[in-house]
Amino acid sequence: MKFFIDTANLAQIQEAQELGVLDGVTTNPSLMAKEGISGDANVKAHYKAICAIVDGDVSAEVIATDYEGMIKEGEELAALDEKIVVKIPMIKDGVKALKYFSDKGIKTNCTLIFSAGQALMAAKAGATYVSPFIGRLDDISTDGLDLIESIRIIFDNYDFGTEILAASVRHPMHIIQCAEIGADVMTGPLSAMEALLKHPLTDIGLAKFLADHAKANG
Ligand code: G3P
Repeated sequence: MKFFIDTANLAQIQEAQELGVLDGVTTNPSLMAKEGISGDANVKAHYKAICAIVDGDVSAEVIATDYEGMIKEGEELAALDEKIVVKIPMIKDGVKALKYFSDKGIKTNCTLIFSAGQALMAAKAGATYVSPFIGRLDDISTDGLDLIESIRIIFDNYDFGTEILAASVRHPMHIIQCAEIGADVMTGPLSAMEALLKHPLTDIGLAKFLADHAKANG
């Protein structure tokens, strides 16, 4: 399973990259705003800065919601760097835009997926990734992981090349369960990735090894 970091924070992207397990980055307009990035030129410069840090795909979301607007914006974003994946919302014009970019060989990430039907539509239109938001489904007392499972079955049934990018990941168990189900990618915060490597018995065991070594070696 690929690990993407879901942030526009350059320091955190750098830290995840240095950890050596990072396969890409996802951003969205809220995450860009959180970093105080605004204005077309600044937004584009920020995407370029992210691309300079990571080796993998970097999702950059369009703001337009009409077909022509999404094509224009998406083409501009894709021209910034070959790592850019154009992130398109799951709306009717978005499906048309997915097809357009797919035909042109430009990678896409269809975002705001909350049902298997939406994922199927995006895959039919040739999306590179679909982003089901599991945390936001959990927030409304629905099991987000059930959606990942359902999409996995559908995509496997028909050998869709579209990758399942589990998004809105909030904690380490989300990551483990996505890996069990077979999501292709997960995108989440650095804290959730770092939580995977922690275990109290590891810390206790290491402290004992070091103490025994110190005792034996003076
Ligand atoms: O990037 C989209 C998604 O991962 C958002 O997550 O935590 O805002 O629901 P969240």
